[in-house]
Amino acid sequence: IGPVKKICCIGAGYVGGPTMAMIAHQCHGIEVKVVDINAERIAQWNSDELPIYEPGLDDIVKGRRGQNLIFTTEVDEAIREADMVFISVNTPTKTFGVGAGRAANLEFIEKCARKIAEVSVGHKIVVEKSTLPVRTAEAVKAILAEATSGATFDVLSNPEFLAEGTAIDDLLAPDRVLIGGESEAAIQALVDVYAQWVPAERLLTTNLWSSELSKLTANAFLAQRVSSINSISALCEATEADVDEVAMAIGMDSRIGPKFLKSSVGFGGSCFQKDILNLVYLCEYFGLPEVADYWQQVVTMNDYQKRRFVHRMVRTMFNTVSDKKIAIWGFAFKKDTNDTRESAAIYVCRDLLLEKARLSIYDPQVTKAQIVANLEAVFQNGDQELSAMSRQLIENNVEVVSDAEAAADSAHAIAVLTEWDEFANANFAKILERMKKPAFVFDGRNTLKGLNLEELGFDYQGIGFSR
Ligand code: NAD
Ligand code: UDX
Repeated sequence: IGPVKKICCIGAGYVGGPTMAMIAHQCHGIEVKVVDINAERIAQWNSDELPIYEPGLDDIVKGRRGQNLIFTTEVDEAIREADMVFISVNTPTKTFGVGAGRAANLEFIEKCARKIAEVSVGHKIVVEKSTLPVRTAEAVKAILAEATSGATFDVLSNPEFLAEGTAIDDLLAPDRVLIGGESEAAIQALVDVYAQWVPAERLLTTNLWSSELSKLTANAFLAQRVSSINSISALCEATEADVDEVAMAIGMDSRIGPKFLKSSVGFGGSCFQKDILNLVYLCEYFGLPEVADYWQQVVTMNDYQKRRFVHRMVRTMFNTVSDKKIAIWGFAFKKDTNDTRESAAIYVCRDLLLEKARLSIYDPQVTKAQIVANLEAVFQNGDQELSAMSRQLIENNVEVVSDAEAAADSAHAIAVLTEWDEFANANFAKILERMKKPAFVFDGRNTLKGLNLEELGFDYQGIGFSR
């Protein structure tokens, strides 16, 4: 196995796009082709308006695109030419059949493996970049072994740890890069790619199964911290303790550490829930129901936190929000991304709509079409059509506006659901004047906590404290 000269990455999504752009940026000697069956997405990667919003991404893509970074729908050709093929396709929670609602849907992974087997010639290193249940490489190897062309393969696991909103910084200076495999030469080939910018002590190599399992485990531990602090937030609200003070106090213990202790309206994103559910399913599959129950509770607590937020809003607003206008500030699952997958905002908006509230939604990066599609999807039950009632609720009770102040105009309340920096700079005196009184602010991120909105005349409530 010689040095890698040509890379193909299957899947031009939130992971495939930025990671491959970073490899192309750092390794000018490697030609990187990112392929996808979604032609519209590839066209966006080739346009001025990239399909994903991520600070710093534009410069890196535009710096290398057309040189050693190519986005194309010519999947077969790109695979055939490459020495190394990354699989970076989606692995969503299964919605049907055995394991529905928990197991990962590996259909797209298997299709990639079959495609690689079909079109490959010579030797290829196949790299699992997608997040996968442990032992998936066994299936990938079995499929590749059936290649009729005589092509040979090594399979590596190289899970991605970037977080959205900070993807470029995370890729530039990762805490670690994890590479699991069986062939020393194949592992070394991938190590040599990352070694062009990642210090050697941050390149961790393990066996295949440890690498596959570490990704689900890392996400489960991170999400568990958020659910743990969120569980304490409920207790804080009942006791006059302040969750941010508690988080500070426990985080200063170097054994606990300060990160990922920010209490919120609930974690979202495409990974945490999906990966924990997948872990739960795996534990059951391997006959470990106690372990499954332990991790399931992280998701249960997160659902509780989202519900609890809406209950508190309704209770505070005199037990009715029906026909009241509520400004929704932020719809993305965290700041600095246009991604809304599993965003807490979707569930909060659904529950407010079921209370017949009127919502005026503003997010600096999320389009109206995306918001409406998310709300339609959350009201859809399995395969059933959207009911006439939910369609009407979305049509009549939801507007999407282009600035935060407009959303709050004549509103009874503002609900902050994403911690976008710009919200703290809003003109609150002006907003207060134009809101119904009492003017409620429900801060699902505690981002406005330092602004003393009570002194201005708002009724301000956040997560995990009472004033
Ligand atoms: P995504 O949905 O944004 O992108 C996946 C892309 O793969 C899509 O564009 C889809 O069209 C394409 N695709 C699917 N099947 C294909 C096929 N057979 N051939 C070619 N293209 C195909 O998903 P994502 O967020 O980039 O996640 C990809 C994987 O990375 C998942 O396993 C996820 O768990 C993991 N991951 C995601 C993140 C994150 O922050 N989003 C972080 C770490 C790991
Ligand atoms: C996560 C992992 O962090 C990353 O390593 C993995 O590769 C993919 O999944 P991501 O989902 O992009 O990344 O964002 P992350 O920063 O982890 O936030 C996830 C959710 O948790 C967000 O909704 C965020 O608002 C919430 N969160 C995070 C909190 O509520 N409190 C915190 O302290 C941290």
